[in-house]
Amino acid sequence: LNVSLIGAPTDVGAGTRGASMGPEALRVADIRAAIAAFGADVRDCGDLAGPANPNLPAVDGFRHLHEVAQWNEILHDAVYAELCAGRLPVMLGGDHCLAIGSISAVARHCRTVGKKLLVLWFDAHADLNTATMTPSGNIHGMPVACLCGHGPDVLTRIGGNIPAMLPSEIRQIGIRSVDEGEKRFLCELGVEVFDMRYIDEVGMRAVMEQALAGVDENTHLHVSLDVDFLDPTIAPGVGTTVRGGPTYREAELCMEMIADTDQLASLDIVELNPALDHRNMTAELAVDLVESLFGKSTLMRMHRQTRGN
Ligand code: ARG
Ligand code: MN
Ligand code: MN
Ligand code: MN
Repeated sequence: LNVSLIGAPTDVGAGTRGASMGPEALRVADIRAAIAAFGADVRDCGDLAGPANPNLPAVDGFRHLHEVAQWNEILHDAVYAELCAGRLPVMLGGDHCLAIGSISAVARHCRTVGKKLLVLWFDAHADLNTATMTPSGNIHGMPVACLCGHGPDVLTRIGGNIPAMLPSEIRQIGIRSVDEGEKRFLCELGVEVFDMRYIDEVGMRAVMEQALAGVDENTHLHVSLDVDFLDPTIAPGVGTTVRGGPTYREAELCMEMIADTDQLASLDIVELNPALDHRNMTAELAVDLVESLFGKSTLMRMHRQTRGN
């Protein structure tokens, strides 16, 4: 297993500044060693360089459209290059607008090699806004819409195909803050959403079984982990906290069940904001989750393997 860490230190898509320090906080929490512990060859590609945050108000429904487009072009190229080299890209964000570049590269790769794409979107938010629906103009609230072909040309065309992905290729987990326009749009597009109400009612295990249904050897599994997915009591280091998120064990179970499929092929870790964190605890939690994602064995898992069932 060959893994490449790609830092994308920007907060141009967010409403609160600070996510641009996310990549370094993840390195301080030793994300590299955490992944290398499972026998992977881990290369840290360092940080990409992109435009600074001009901190301007929205224009025609978008804040920093030009800067967001530039960052995503740069990220797309970096992620696509690592995939072509047979490596598993781990994008260290940065705010969630970066999913446009990273997932459009992943989708392009899937088209080229004939793999089935499945995006697991862990988030408190649906991130399905458009310029007319957005309450903020912040583009980190719009990546899913852009990837599905709804957005300005400079953001929808980055992966060379519009739309970059289909609504049926994404499943959202942990959702609990959705704007009015987004609710209608989610239904219209038919996006599969496992919201917190559903997680409460059926439990995380059943949710993940459903979210992973149909995953096989020919599936490219992409995980887009917005750290605000987690309950703010365990993950305070994010700009857009929403109460009532998954517990530590619920989140770990998600990652462990993904590891069991053996199909993880690319990962985004986004929205970590060290300026709002306490003693890097949110970065350390994210690294714990990454360990599970890469197959950190619980006792039960080891025991099962030894018994061969
Ligand atoms: N729905 C809100 C908006 O569009 C919040 C989006 C938060 N997104 C995120 N990636 N944290 O502004
Ligand atoms: Mn390009
Ligand atoms: Mn979010
Ligand atoms: Mn998000």
